Amino acid sequence: MSTYALEQIPRRQPCLPRTIVTGATSGIGRALAIQLIEAGVPVIAIGRNEDQLRELAARSGLVATYAADLSEIDALPALVARIVSAHPDVGCLINNAGIQNDLRVDDAPCDAAQICHEVDVNLVAPMVLTQALIAHLQRQPLGLVVNLTSALGYMPKRTAAVYSATKAGLHLFTLALRVQMAGTTVRVVEVVMPLVDTPMTAGRGGGKLPPAQAAQHLIEGLLAGKTDVRIGKARLLPWLQRWAPGVLARVLQRG
Ligand SMILES: NC(=O)c1ccc[n+]([C@@H]2O[C@H](COP(=O)([O-])OP(=O)(O)OC[C@H]3O[C@@H](n4cnc5c(N)ncnc54)[C@H](OP(=O)(O)O)[C@@H]3O)[C@@H](O)[C@H]2O)c1
Repeated sequence: MSTYALEQIPRRQPCLPRTIVTGATSGIGRALAIQLIEAGVPVIAIGRNEDQLRELAARSGLVATYAADLSEIDALPALVARIVSAHPDVGCLINNAGIQNDLRVDDAPCDAAQICHEVDVNLVAPMVLTQALIAHLQRQPLGLVVNLTSALGYMPKRTAAVYSATKAGLHLFTLALRVQMAGTTVRVVEVVMPLVDTPMTAGRGGGKLPPAQAAQHLIEGLLAGKTDVRIGKARLLPWLQRWAPGVLARVLQRG
């Protein structure tokens, strides 16, 4: 795992408060957790893989871990209550956990249970975690809700209709929440990721960004006070959407 010199990050105060990272056991979330603790930011790591959670906790006393399955929606408010009670200074929620089923809706393994599970993990869980934490965040000097979306939330991928729909939903939830939080201490951030080299994208094409770089750009965006953080090739998204939507569709819908 490559790391980076945190002294190089342009730090603009205030720096980040204690941060919840969902999906901290793999890919982008794991890189985020590691870089945050290297920067001295206390992390609350959530995921199902208990070995990976233990590995993170062993790295630093700044890590607290919570094993949880985010598709168990009814349990999420109690999870947030436990976290707030144990860590009253928690001030940032990074909704990173996600799954992508590479399936057409007319493929045999696609069924109601699979659709609901993908929607629960990618969209319902981030909204419920946010709702459960928002009153607490509003009482903090700086509260942050950070949602990871994708170019596929703007232009769908042929074999990932449900995933694309969840990311489009998370994009709009982010915009709506930002309107609701105007005038409060809560900043609502959307991070649009490009193709990143993680287990989610195993076996897919080249030109992927290493997760450590994706995490570094995300943290830099937060420290710079941005509300829209587009990383790597995702920076082209607004231009492509406006001027060349056909090209964007061809790129994302090939294969
Ligand atoms: N990789 C890309 O190219 C790319 C591009 C655009 C956007 N994104 C977004 O970036 C985020 C991270 O993706 P990644 O590529 O880093 O994926 P990844 O390596 O597959 O990691 C996914 C993470 O989500 C967690 N997770 C999945 N299901 C869960 C559940 N039911 N309960 C709790 N945690 C669960 C996993 O933890 P456990 O297995 O421990 O539960 C894991 O830590 C996702 O939201 C994804 O949509 C990724």
